[in-house]
Amino acid sequence: MPVVISFVSTKGGVGKTTVAANLGGLLAAFGMKVLAIDADVQPSLSKFFPVHYRSPQGLSAVVTSGGNPTPDCISRTIFSNFDLIYSDTPGAGLQSWLNQREDRLMILRRAMRSPVLEAYDIVLIDTQGAVGELQKSAAMAADFMISPVKPDALSAGEFATGTVAMLDELNRLADFGAPFRSGDLLVLINAHERTSNARALASVLRQRFSAHPKVSVLDTVVPSAAAYAAAATARVPVHDFDRRRRFENSAWNIMHRLAWELFPSLANVYVGASGVKLAGLPGPGVPEECIA
Ligand SMILES: Nc1ncnc2c1ncn2[C@@H]1O[C@H](COP(=O)(O)OP(=O)(O)OP(=O)(O)O)[C@@H](O)[C@H]1O
Ligand SMILES: [Mg+2]
Repeated sequence: MPVVISFVSTKGGVGKTTVAANLGGLLAAFGMKVLAIDADVQPSLSKFFPVHYRSPQGLSAVVTSGGNPTPDCISRTIFSNFDLIYSDTPGAGLQSWLNQREDRLMILRRAMRSPVLEAYDIVLIDTQGAVGELQKSAAMAADFMISPVKPDALSAGEFATGTVAMLDELNRLADFGAPFRSGDLLVLINAHERTSNARALASVLRQRFSAHPKVSVLDTVVPSAAAYAAAATARVPVHDFDRRRRFENSAWNIMHRLAWELFPSLANVYVGASGVKLAGLPGPGVPEECIA
């Protein structure tokens, strides 16, 4: 079964799509089979990289089938090993549909166990920066979540009161009979400016969540750099856009460091390696089945 990472945040514009696309681009360049799922009803991951085969169906078929994707839902990007399930239901249609379903939190989790997804090493699910049933379903489908946070007071505050509250609420459901608790939520400090204020906020975030059972802050920090937007405009993975190996904070180095931190078994694997396998998720934070 693939390792599933969902990108969640109740705040918009923090870098979920950018990080999801570029992490996927790097892992695919490592030779892993990657599936990116755009679960944002305002599609942006769907358009991030050029697609050379567009499937007849997308996310809405995955969701409205109750979590049974068919091969007809899978598009292919121009990059080897990098497939896509695109978002195809603008507006609130899919969220309203999910609202009617009692099993709404389980639907994407069920999809992750589909034989159609068996061939993938990794599935990345991007979500919209808001609270909603689709985001919650994506959170519950994940082995772990990544929540990019910009080190400014607004983003850090929204993370603490919005994203963490959503996670806590989901996990409280387990006390009332939900069959499992979520995986860990890993905070990725993103678009870090080299200012003392940004450094102070990053350190407050680390301290504030040091005792939270499900939240931890990644050591890798993504600096604010023009390469991220420029690579998105050029529609190429950022490691391929800013390839400066000798510059510690180049996108090439940062994206490698992020992949190595998430998957310690990849440590010191570089683009171009072959036969790469994922193992060693960070910590013990995968979802706990808690069937009484
Ligand atoms: N490390 C970075 N440095 C500079 N700019 C960045 C960085 N990461 C992301 N950006 C820029 O920030 C903007 C928002 O990023 P992105 O669209 O990935 O956020 P998002 O969380 O997916 O937003 P939404 O919630 O609207 O889906 C984009 O213009 C992107 O290029
Ligand atoms: Mg986005």
